[in-house]
This record gives sequence, structure tokens and C-alpha cells, in this order.
Amino acid sequence: MTAGAALGRGFGHGKVILVGEHAVVHGHPALAAGISTGIAVTARAGEGRLRVPAWNLEAAAGDGTAVGRALEAIVRRLEAPGLDFEAEAQIPSRAGLGSSAALATAVARAAAAAVGRADATDLVDAAVTAAEEVFHGTPSGIDAAAAKSGLTGRFSRAGGWRPVPVLQKITLCVGLSGRPRDTAAQVAAVGRLRERLPAAGEVLALLGRLADDAGGALAQGDVDGLGRIMDAAHGLLAALRLSSPELEALVHGARAAGAIGAKLTGAGGGGAVIALAPAHERDVLHRWRAAGYEGFLCDIAAAPGGGGA
Ligand code: MEV
Repeated sequence: MTAGAALGRGFGHGKVILVGEHAVVHGHPALAAGISTGIAVTARAGEGRLRVPAWNLEAAAGDGTAVGRALEAIVRRLEAPGLDFEAEAQIPSRAGLGSSAALATAVARAAAAAVGRADATDLVDAAVTAAEEVFHGTPSGIDAAAAKSGLTGRFSRAGGWRPVPVLQKITLCVGLSGRPRDTAAQVAAVGRLRERLPAAGEVLALLGRLADDAGGALAQGDVDGLGRIMDAAHGLLAALRLSSPELEALVHGARAAGAIGAKLTGAGGGGAVIALAPAHERDVLHRWRAAGYEGFLCDIAAAPGGGGA
């Protein structure tokens, strides 16, 4: 791919779901935070190709791969053929950190800017939704909303994304299980469990309630309360069979190193864990590394007025 002049640029935020993954698929609320790291994309004149060097990924619109089909969906909706896209990814792929939504958002924004339609947010939204459907079947839309916002928000299928107030900056440890997660498969498994075990529906409703409780804790700066809610949410997600030996090792390692709350984040089965460990963040990362797991820190930005978005 030749590096001609940049015609447009776009950015999509990675995200962590604080509480409420899977519940949100079933109509309950979830609380998610866009993180400052994400994916930056540059569009140049070309032939509909995408490169993500950090992921060793190359695709072309319509090449039959999931990424190629998603790219085709974006450029078709934005009527932006004749572009190549180069992505700088600061987050890992398939780790439950919203990488597909961040990539789709960044590509769609870069394409829109390149064709002089940067203000066409409805078109960008439709393009991102179409790409996410290629990746995940029938996603709730929470990843796409967080990728666009970059702030903390409450999301429900009925109410969409609403920024929530965050009294003080919160630092989270993110631990990577090293096992890719498959969102569509995990969502389908929870759907099957709910049919066979009606009580699973009540577990999902309880997760939604905990998401709202977590929103209250963020608004009051109640970090201990948030930690307790995260622990309870992890137990409920494990009850839905969404945990794994690696995720359990990360959660228990974090608690042993001083975390006051830890849970899987995203679809589960693999992917990532978040841990809240005020003054012990480095201890958590060291313990994870000693056990063979990579991790990093990310901040949930303070937004006393809910971010104003
Ligand atoms: C994935 O990040 C979150 C899930 O709730 C799926 C979705 O909301 O589309 C598991």
C-alpha cells in the first residue's frame, strides 16, 4: 500500500464494560466506559484495503473475511470507495475491549472525513452498526456507543447511551487472559441457558440492577461500593458460565494482590478482566505478569456533569 496524502482521519475508543455485559443484550442496562486508548485510522486514495500492523491484519473490502465484509459495509454506506485505510491499534483485538467497534468507528470517521461528510454522524452510526453486525450478529450496540463517546455511560437497548457523572478519576487494571473471546458464541450460549434455566433471566436482571447501583457509586465517588458490585457481578457472570480458568486466575490473583473488586469484562469465555485496586495497581500487574498474564492500566475519566455529551 503506498502512503499517499492523508484524506481523512478518525479515532475510535476502546471500552470496558464496568457492569452489565450480557444483561444489556436482554434489555437491561449496562454501565460502560470508553477508555482513552483506542484505534486511530488514516484514509488515503486507494482500492478499499485495510491494514492493522499491530494485529498483523490486512483485508480488502469484500474479500470474504469478516473484516473485509465489515469494511465493505462501511464504505458502501458512506459511498466512499477508492480509499485505503491504515490503522494504528493501541488495544489488543478480541480481548473484550471493544476492538471491533473501535476499528469500525475509526474507519467510518476517516472515510466520512475523506469524502467531506465528517458531520454526517447518522451515516457514520449506521455504518458502524452494519460493521458490528458482521462481527457479532445482533450486538446490543453498547460497544459502538462507547467507541464513539470515550466517556462513561449507561446504555440500554431502549434508552441508548446516556453519559453518567463520575465524581473522581478511577484507575482500573486490565488483565488479558490470552484467550480470544467470541462474542457471538457467548451471547448465543447465554440465550440457550436462559431457555433451559428460566432463573438465568433473573440473574441477567440482577446484573442490570447492579449496573445502575454501580452508576450510583461512581456518581458518589464510592470506590469501595463499586468494588463490591464488581465482585458480585463477576460471581453472577460465572453463574452464567461465562468465566474460564484463565479469567478466574486473573480475578483471584488481583484480589490476592490487594484489589477491592475484580470481574471479567465483555463477553467472557476469554478476553479480559478488570480490577479495582486503589494504591495496589502495580502489585496487581506484577502478580499477573508473574503468573504469565499481560496487563495494563487505564483511567475512567472524572466527568462530574456526566461528560456533557
Ligand atoms: C460485549 O462487549 C458485550 C455483550 O453484552 C454483547 C453486546 O452487548 O452486544 C456481551
